[in-house]
Amino acid sequence: MKYIVGNWKMYPRSFAEAKEIVTEIRPLARKAVQKGVQPVICPPAIFLSGLIGSGTALQFGGQNASAYGEGAFTGEISPVQLASLGAKYVILGHSERRALGETDAMVAAKAIAAAKAGLMIILCVGERERDSDGRYFAEVANQLRASLEDFPESKSVHLMIAYEPVWAIGTEATGAATPRDHEEMSMLLRRTLSELFGKQKGFHIPLLYGGSVDTKNAQSFLDAGADGLLIGRASLRAKDLALIIHNAVQNNA
Ligand code: PGA
Repeated sequence: MKYIVGNWKMYPRSFAEAKEIVTEIRPLARKAVQKGVQPVICPPAIFLSGLIGSGTALQFGGQNASAYGEGAFTGEISPVQLASLGAKYVILGHSERRALGETDAMVAAKAIAAAKAGLMIILCVGERERDSDGRYFAEVANQLRASLEDFPESKSVHLMIAYEPVWAIGTEATGAATPRDHEEMSMLLRRTLSELFGKQKGFHIPLLYGGSVDTKNAQSFLDAGADGLLIGRASLRAKDLALIIHNAVQNNA
């Protein structure tokens, strides 16, 4: 299965606009899933209950969740609550949340709670910048290990890893990484996951790419073996997201 995941961040401004995008994408989802492509939208949590439709192939996720199932934590959203709405996924450890102060230890605790709630975790890792002697490989491997501290091996089927180099994300990005960059990093991520969970389980965890994915470069990452894409800006343009899904379906024969 290839996963096309839209990370809407704190967009769009209104529920009406969110609904418009979903209305364009929803009809594509059934055929996509039949062809091995799963579209997922992660809107602001406040929009989730209005967007999740019953019995449709389009799936939804949160962009963050608490490390607790419930409790006196004003403003937080629990993974159990996300799951109760019908959300299937949650993005954890996104660099924009790490920039707000989220540590590897916090991400690790959230991952354990999310898996316990039955959600699929889209765990984001990625270096801040690239140095010429390749120290960023160790940085990402360490981040992955620390973000999965104490994560139960039996729950590894709940994991997906999104490699998102920070320098490639958002409007300040210097551009996307290359499919070759993702391939190289994937080898390291696979090895690290195999060390953590054993070869068999480590091999089956989907590895996604994210950071300046658009209609022009999306397919090149999938063609190079990425198990999916985590898409910010382009996923808010319904036509672009539809095209990316369409191309993934055409090429996933
Ligand atoms: P971008 O964002 O596609 O707008 O670079 C990606 C992300 O933050 O997941």
